[in-house]
Amino acid sequence: MRVLVTGGTGFTGSHLVRRLLDRRHDVVCLDSQPGLFADELRGLGAEVVIGSVTDADLVRRSSRGVEVVHHLAAAFRQLNVPKSVYREVNVEGTRNVLEAARASDVRRVVYCSTQGVHGHVMNPPGDENSPIAPEDYYQQTKYEGELVCAEYSDAGMDIAIVRPTAIYGPGDPGRFLLLYRMARNGRFLMFGDGETTYHPVYIDNLVDLFELAAERPEARGRTYLGGDAEYFTLNELVSAVGRSMGTEVKIVHLPFRPLWLAAVACEAVCAPLRVSPPLFRRRVDWFRQVRAFRIDRARDELGYAPGVGLDEGLKRTFDWYRENGYL
Ligand SMILES: NC(=O)c1ccc[n+]([C@@H]2O[C@H](COP(=O)([O-])OP(=O)(O)OC[C@H]3O[C@@H](n4cnc5c(N)ncnc54)[C@H](OP(=O)(O)O)[C@@H]3O)[C@@H](O)[C@H]2O)c1
Repeated sequence: MRVLVTGGTGFTGSHLVRRLLDRRHDVVCLDSQPGLFADELRGLGAEVVIGSVTDADLVRRSSRGVEVVHHLAAAFRQLNVPKSVYREVNVEGTRNVLEAARASDVRRVVYCSTQGVHGHVMNPPGDENSPIAPEDYYQQTKYEGELVCAEYSDAGMDIAIVRPTAIYGPGDPGRFLLLYRMARNGRFLMFGDGETTYHPVYIDNLVDLFELAAERPEARGRTYLGGDAEYFTLNELVSAVGRSMGTEVKIVHLPFRPLWLAAVACEAVCAPLRVSPPLFRRRVDWFRQVRAFRIDRARDELGYAPGVGLDEGLKRTFDWYRENGYL
């Protein structure tokens, strides 16, 4: 089968591409940059196309002969770009992908959304029917991407939506690396009481769900939260990160509000200078936004069974960071 993975050289995309190549599929990756993994994926047999999902012609060419599309490309980590970039990529880019998929008679599209469309979960654990309450432009535009999917589904296309919780694993350049770095000296500054819940998903578990969402007939027109079997408090998570490094972490609690105000100030100062703020609301919201979900729908309808638990996942992640010189 020929499969297109947008965002295929990114963290999540590269894991999915490796899995698809292992299964002997022909894989095309479309990504705006080669990143850490393009050469490796080419070596494994993937066709890597560097370009943007905002380029409708390129997306159409990349979709020729494709049976399944996993659409993961997203404006996600970029900070010093105008907010309009988020809409162009996450909403209009999604439209380009669906339009091209329709033109190529793609059998199924899997759209990678985010748990963030639910914002701060008021009555945890939430599920796919919890209120849609995005809290920032990233979450908002990912949800608008879902609305574009709904338009094409209504017109007869076969689309499944996956809303991953917080993805982590080897190759993750972001949030978890920061966590390890903050915990490795045995002292962690926790803003707030640390009892906020956090729902991780280990990368291999999520890739299992992408495969199920692409293959199972039941997934047509459905939306699935994709998380690990359990969620944790931030205090538990930080202790587990320490454990994976063999470090006992002392958590020092500080008030959250001054941090949030500092983030507002940083963003205001950095925006006109077009530099990435060292602190920003999306980052500090990590201490505040409640994330805890039931994953029953994916389990019951698709047979999703996340096999890698937190301790094992964190250990594998730590090993990767260490072997690759990040820690
Ligand atoms: N990480 C999480 O915890 C999490 C949680 C829920 C959902 N998600 C979703 O999961 C997906 C993958 O995220 P990730 O964590 O793997 O992030 P990632 O490593 O940044 O992967 C996204 C890839 O898409 C690329 N991209 C950005 N804009 C593009 C464009 N216009 N055209 C083509 N490619 C473009 C990125 O390149 P650049 O590096 O140049 O931007 C990157 O290589 C995203 O859809 C994200 O919204 C992530």
